[in-house]
Amino acid sequence: MDQEQLNGAMRSVSINSNGLATNQNGHNGNDETDNARVLGGGGGGGGISFGLSSGNAASKATNAATNAATNAATNAATDAATATETATATANANVNAIQIQTSAAGASAADKKKMVHELCQQLLLTDEQVQELCYRILHEVRRGLAKDTHPKANVKCFVTYVQDLPNGNERGKFLALDLGGTNFRVLLIHLQENNDFQMESRIYAIPQHIMIGSGLQLFDHIAECLSNFMAEHNVYSERLPLGFTFSFPLRQLGLTKGLLETWTKGFDCAGVVNEDVVQLLKDAIARRGDVQIDVCAILNDTTGTLMSCAWKNHNCKIGLIVGTGSNACYVEKVDEAELFDMRDNRKPHVLINTEWGAFGDNGALDFVRTEFDKDIDSHSINPGKQTFEKMISGMYMGELVRLVLAKMTQAGILFNGQGSEVLFTRGLFFTKYVSEIEADEPGTYTNCRLVLEELGLSNATDGDCANVRYICECVSKRAAHLVSAGIATLINKMDEPHVTVGVDGSVYRFHPKFHNLMVEKITQLIKPGISFDLMLSEDGSGRGAALVAAVACREDILNSK
Ligand code: GLC
Repeated sequence: MDQEQLNGAMRSVSINSNGLATNQNGHNGNDETDNARVLGGGGGGGGISFGLSSGNAASKATNAATNAATNAATNAATDAATATETATATANANVNAIQIQTSAAGASAADKKKMVHELCQQLLLTDEQVQELCYRILHEVRRGLAKDTHPKANVKCFVTYVQDLPNGNERGKFLALDLGGTNFRVLLIHLQENNDFQMESRIYAIPQHIMIGSGLQLFDHIAECLSNFMAEHNVYSERLPLGFTFSFPLRQLGLTKGLLETWTKGFDCAGVVNEDVVQLLKDAIARRGDVQIDVCAILNDTTGTLMSCAWKNHNCKIGLIVGTGSNACYVEKVDEAELFDMRDNRKPHVLINTEWGAFGDNGALDFVRTEFDKDIDSHSINPGKQTFEKMISGMYMGELVRLVLAKMTQAGILFNGQGSEVLFTRGLFFTKYVSEIEADEPGTYTNCRLVLEELGLSNATDGDCANVRYICECVSKRAAHLVSAGIATLINKMDEPHVTVGVDGSVYRFHPKFHNLMVEKITQLIKPGISFDLMLSEDGSGRGAALVAAVACREDILNSK
C-alpha cells in the first residue's frame, strides 16, 4: 500500500455550533466514530459535580443490606444457573436433532419455520437467565474494584482519574485524537462562550496491516495524520492541548498516563501491551520533530460519551458504547474504587471504565453461550477474550447471523438448501445488514431481498425472508438484553433516583429496535423507585476528548493560582 493510500483521508467534516455540517461525504456505518452529526450549543453551564447523594448513614445501611442480599442471591443464583445450564444442554440437543436430519429441503414452510424457531431457542435469554447475568456482572464489577480480587477479575473496572464533569466554563482550541474502531480521527475543537463550539474533523483509514503491525508503525501513522491535519487546519505551528480517546483497556496511572492491558477489536500491534500509550504518542511526535502538542488527557470512548452527554445533562452518570466493541463507564464512589490512589476529600466520585467486554472470559457466560459464539471466538484474533463483547457488538453481530444462516442452509431449512459463496464466507454478512433487514415493515421484505441479493441469494421465498429476519431479531435482541443486564446492574449499584445513560456506537445508533429493546429490558431489571433514560451521545469520542482535556486545563489553571 502506498503512502497516499495509507493516509487517504476518507472524509472531512467541519461542524459549527449550529449543527451545520459542511463537506460531509459518505457513510460507512461501521464504527462508533462514524457520527459526524454533531450539534453544538444548548444546555450546559452552571457548576456540575457528580452529586451522587448516597453518602448519608441511612443509605449506607441500605447499601450494606443490598450487598448482603446480593451476595446471598448470587449463591442461590449459582444453583439456579446449574438448572439453566441443563436447559441449555437440552436446547443444544434439539440443535443436534436438526443436524442429523440429512436435509429438510422437502419440508413444508410451517415445518421449516418451526425448525428455525427451535434452533434459535438457544439465542433467547429467559428472564431467569438475564437476572442471573445481572448477579454475575455485579459480582465481577465488585471483583474488579477491590484491590485483592482485581488482578484476577475479568471486568477490570479501571480508574479513569476523571473526577470532574464540564461546567461550561471551558474555553479555547483543543485537538483530539480518536482511535478505537476501524478508523482513526483527528479533530480540532474550539470551545467558545455560551456553550458554543466549532469543530473540524477528518477521518483516516487504519489499514489492516497497521492494525496488526508494529506499535511503532501505528504511532508513526497517527503522528503523521496529526501533522497533516494541523497543516491543513492552519494550526501547524501552534502548541495546542490534546485529548486522546484511546478505546482499548487501559490501566491508567493518571490522567495522562496509561498502560495498555491488551488489544481488542481486531487490533494487535506488537510492542504496545504494558507500555504507556501517551509516551508512545509523544515519542512518535518527537521522531517527526515538526509539530508540538500538550497531551492533557487520555480517555476511553465510554468516558468521552459520558462527558459529552454530561455537558448538556447533569444526570448523565453512565457512558455506554454499542459499536464495533461494547463497554460502559460509570460514576463510582471513591471509597469503592480501592485502586484509586489520588484521593482528594473534596471529590467523592471518580469515573470507572468497567471494560465489561471481557466479562465471561472465566466461563461466567458459559451457561448462555451457543455453538455460534464458540465458533466466533475460536476464529477470532483473540480467542478466549472479550466473551461478552463477542455476543453483543457490531464487530461480531453480522457474523453470528451468518453462522446461523449457513447452518440452516446446510440443513436444507433455508433457501431450499442452496447457499452461495458469499453466505459461506467468513465476515461477509455485515452487521449493517441486520439493521437493514429489521427495518422492513412487518410482512414486507424489501431490504431483506436486497441484502440476500448482495449475498447471491436471489431465489428466496417469503418464508425464507421471514426466517432470515427472525434469526436477525434473535441475535440483536440477545445483544440488547445482554447490554441491558449490564446497564441495569450499574444503575442498581449506583442506587440514584434517576440516571441518564449516554449512549453511542453504530449498533445502538443504526439498529431500528435496539433502543426500545433496551428501555423495555432495563425497566424490568432496575429496582423500584429508580428511573433512567437513554441519551444518544453527540460525538463522545471527539467532543468528549476535548472536554476532558479542557476540564484538565481548567484545573491546571486553578491549581497553579
Ligand atoms: C472494546 C475496548 C473498550 C472500548 C469498547 C468500545 O471493548 O476494549 O475500551 O470502550 O471496545 O469501543
